[in-house]
Amino acid sequence: MSSAPRVPANAGSIAQPMSLPRLAEMRETGQPIAMVTAYDYPSALVAEEAGVDIVLVGDSGAMTVLGHDSTVPVGMEEMLMLAAAVRRGLRTPLLVGDMPFGSYEGSNEQAVMNAQRFIKEAGCDAVKLERGGASVDRARAIVRAGIPVMGHVGLTPQTATALGGYKAQGRTGERASQIAEDAFALQAVGCFSIVFEAVPAAVTDAMMPRMEIPVIGIGAGGGTDGQVLVFHDLLAINTGHVARFVKRYAAIHEAMVDGVSDYVADVREKRYPDETHTYSIDPAELAGFEEYLEQDTLAGKSPWDW
Ligand code: KIV
Repeated sequence: MSSAPRVPANAGSIAQPMSLPRLAEMRETGQPIAMVTAYDYPSALVAEEAGVDIVLVGDSGAMTVLGHDSTVPVGMEEMLMLAAAVRRGLRTPLLVGDMPFGSYEGSNEQAVMNAQRFIKEAGCDAVKLERGGASVDRARAIVRAGIPVMGHVGLTPQTATALGGYKAQGRTGERASQIAEDAFALQAVGCFSIVFEAVPAAVTDAMMPRMEIPVIGIGAGGGTDGQVLVFHDLLAINTGHVARFVKRYAAIHEAMVDGVSDYVADVREKRYPDETHTYSIDPAELAGFEEYLEQDTLAGKSPWDW
């Protein structure tokens, strides 16, 4: 855990909403870009206050907040609901909606229609989609429809099965070349930024001189223009196995279990609520109410009389 003073990155200034030119400028001037995922209103407020530059409503929400085993089952309606909640908590960071599996692969028309839903219905600024290949065409179509697109190469969880599981990608010359081809193609069709996930740092470093858009890494080493982590991973809201690249910055699950356990114990021991958590009533009003309860007319009533 860092011992640096906790000063939000935007403290003391009225931060301007993040824009695509500003992100490009950050890349050009070597200012690292901080991106995080969020899936609801409270996590959006945290990202806003902490001074994050980009917030991704990741399809990782399928696992972190919906409890699925992979990102595959989450659909458009669920993603839109999560994204709209995040929008309500954000003012400054760029908001990117992650296009879920099955929402863009079918055709350019399907991709554009669902990208538009992220913008119109959830208030996102941009969308993200995974892989190269046919996704390059989809990205081009969405960009042409006027919607900024973020690419995603390397470990692409929506197709993890085809990639041999959740493991580092590009560890042979051939596989690294394939990742580079995908990245260059996504850049060429107008993606404003791209995520490199779980690729060797040396592969990233070798590609960076050919990249002209901000590259955001997750398990791709320190040579990218920025980093992204899943909110629940970095705060340890979830438990169990995490990928090698995750650094825990807090122990929130533990803190939440401690808090709720203390509450349960207080309720059982009648320590909660106490005086400070209860409302008062003027004694004269209370006396009048007690008189009302003692009336004979009330005493003889059956439940059906009410
Ligand atoms: O869904 C997600 O959280 C992501 C990030 C890991 C980039 O795609």
